[in-house]
Amino acid sequence: MKISKMFISRRFKSLVLTVFAFISFSYNIHAQGDAAKGEKLFNQNCASCHFPDKDMTGPALKGARERWIENSSEEKLYDWVRNSTAVIESGDAYANQLFSEWGSVMTAQNVTNEQVDDILAYVEEYQPPVVEVAADPGAGTGEEQESSTLIWWILSALLLVVIGSAASAKSGLQKLANEQDGVNTPGDENWMTAFRRWAWTYRGWVGVTSLIIVVVLLAAGMLDLMKIGVFEDYKPEQPIAYSHELHAGKLGIDCKYCHNSVEKSKHAGIPTVNVCMNCHKTVHEGSTTGTEEIAKIHEAAGYDAATNSYTGETKPIKWVKVHNLPDHVYFNHSQHVNVGGLDCKNCHGNMKKETVARVMTTEDLNNVGVTDEDYDENKVKFTKPTLTMGWCIECHRESNIDIANAPEGSYYNMIHTRLQKDQRTYRSYLEDDVVSVAELGGLECAKCHY
Ligand code: HEC
Ligand code: HEC
Ligand code: HEC
Ligand code: HEC
Ligand code: HEC
Ligand code: HEC
Repeated sequence: MKISKMFISRRFKSLVLTVFAFISFSYNIHAQGDAAKGEKLFNQNCASCHFPDKDMTGPALKGARERWIENSSEEKLYDWVRNSTAVIESGDAYANQLFSEWGSVMTAQNVTNEQVDDILAYVEEYQPPVVEVAADPGAGTGEEQESSTLIWWILSALLLVVIGSAASAKSGLQKLANEQDGVNTPGDENWMTAFRRWAWTYRGWVGVTSLIIVVVLLAAGMLDLMKIGVFEDYKPEQPIAYSHELHAGKLGIDCKYCHNSVEKSKHAGIPTVNVCMNCHKTVHEGSTTGTEEIAKIHEAAGYDAATNSYTGETKPIKWVKVHNLPDHVYFNHSQHVNVGGLDCKNCHGNMKKETVARVMTTEDLNNVGVTDEDYDENKVKFTKPTLTMGWCIECHRESNIDIANAPEGSYYNMIHTRLQKDQRTYRSYLEDDVVSVAELGGLECAKCHY
């Protein structure tokens, strides 16, 4: 393994990969299973422990079918996936060998033979992803660059005016010196007096220049003021070139695997390094950044990849907060995700296409899923910038909750029952059996402000 890493060139590696892909492709003509379906099933059920061509919590699945045919039987493979413990307990030698080698139990999987075939077809066809990892995660957007170019133009123009006036100031002084020859040489005159004299001579120019400077400073100040509280498209540089596109998109890891308090608490939470280490204890190399970025995870966890041991010297990863509401605002994730039944993408857009996180723009949020079959035409169309008060209010005005059909015993079901007792309120709110968040009190200042 080490030798091949050191001596086989990239080109040769890709040749081997191509040949391998060809072989596995022709193998699949005979093999059972639909790789496209398999990819989904794999990501949903197996990706948290397995990777197609790399060992993780469980072994790389490429070639698993052949290994079972060779060492045990094909039927046992299906049995294994559905209930590995049973196969181990049946005394199957290969199963026991696997278990003693890997030392952890593979949880029973609720899949059919056909689905296992699909998964294995996908695994055999799998090609390492080519993802664009943020080379510079802090890179600004086009618009931002445009507005800063404008400011640069204004500043350069100003500079020219100042240089111009300075030049005429010099010639002015010269002239003065010549005129008052002997009586008042430039050397005797202190610069303040000279400046005043000059400014008076060229008062027209000086006036215009000062006016321009004041106007530009004011305009810049206004632009900055307008930005306060508007965070759209904010995407700070992060300590590790982490990619949502790879992990949540390609590898199909559930958002809640990493942001695991999102359903239970106010905060969604940022994963600790231990969560990364669940996989990166065994995955030491990425397909675009090699070992460079993952080494930072190992350093943070105090893990020595060479000796496969922990040194005990940990140091936290300093992720930069992206979304940050002011302290006087109360926002609660579990209320929206759990009670309100909203999806992350309603507020965070399509994170499966992002590297590190950014605050989505109104346009990003409105365009999520437009091309999907199950796109909801009635979903809230935002007009206010993300994370502003107008944005929250807009959604509360337009989000309806179908409380009449809420499950028995649920929070909304209780509200429904209570409202029905008071026919007048019931009629005003519920004539259509739909109630908006606003009607439930979602516009009351105190709900969002401490
Ligand atoms: C909770 C972690 C976990 C999940 C989820 C999981 N596995 Fe496993 N799997 C393992 C472990 C660990 C092993 C190694 C054997 C052992 O220790 O039980 C393994 C072994 C295997 C093997 C034997 C590999 C070989 O080299 O012969 C197959 C096949 C397999 N898993 C298929 C699947 C499939 C298909 C899924 C999804 C439907 C899946 N596993 C989901 C943990 C998991
Ligand atoms: C469920 C498993 C899993 C978890 C959890 C996980 N990763 Fe990964 N990660 C992978 C796999 C597999 C790869 C290799 C994919 C590839 O590039 O081929 C990878 C690759 C990477 C890469 C290199 C990307 C590249 O293409 O070079 C970085 C950086 C990374 N992960 C960061 C993280 C961080 C930070 C965390 C924790 C917040 C994390 N990962 C958690 C499975 C995981
Ligand atoms: C109703 C809109 C909304 C939904 C739905 C939503 N979020 Fe958020 N999310 C926010 C807001 C607003 C913040 C900023 C909170 C703050 O600064 O206090 C935020 C912040 C975060 C953060 C930063 C850490 C934190 O807890 O403040 C993460 C991570 C996050 N969300 C993940 C998720 C995930 C994962 C989901 C889906 C399970 C989700 N969010 C669903 C609006 C939403
Ligand atoms: C493998 C772990 C992992 C998975 C899976 C994952 N994230 Fe993240 N997420 C992170 C890490 C690490 C950060 C901090 C770095 C950054 O800001 O990108 C983060 C940051 C975020 C933030 C911004 C937090 C802040 O500071 O405001 C949001 C929002 C978010 N994720 C949403 C999602 C959504 C939605 C999904 C599912 C589609 C998802 N994440 C899946 C690891 C993960
Ligand atoms: C995508 C739509 C959406 C956005 C954006 C949104 N909310 Fe909500 N919000 C809801 C829904 C739906 C509910 C109803 C859930 C419930 O009844 O608890 C809700 C409920 C609430 C409640 C509880 C109201 C009550 O009557 O108890 C608060 C507080 C709240 N949101 C705060 C916020 C804040 C603060 C923001 C902006 C940072 C925000 N929400 C943005 C959809 C949204
Ligand atoms: C659905 C949640 C929600 C409700 C209801 C709400 N606010 Fe806000 N409010 C916010 C958010 C979020 C911000 C922060 C906006 C920002 O930072 O740009 C905010 C900011 C403010 C600010 C600071 C100025 C500003 O624009 O940043 C004031 C003042 C304010 N709200 C007053 C009120 C009053 C008065 C009410 C009742 C009529 C109210 N809010 C109702 C969410 C809400």
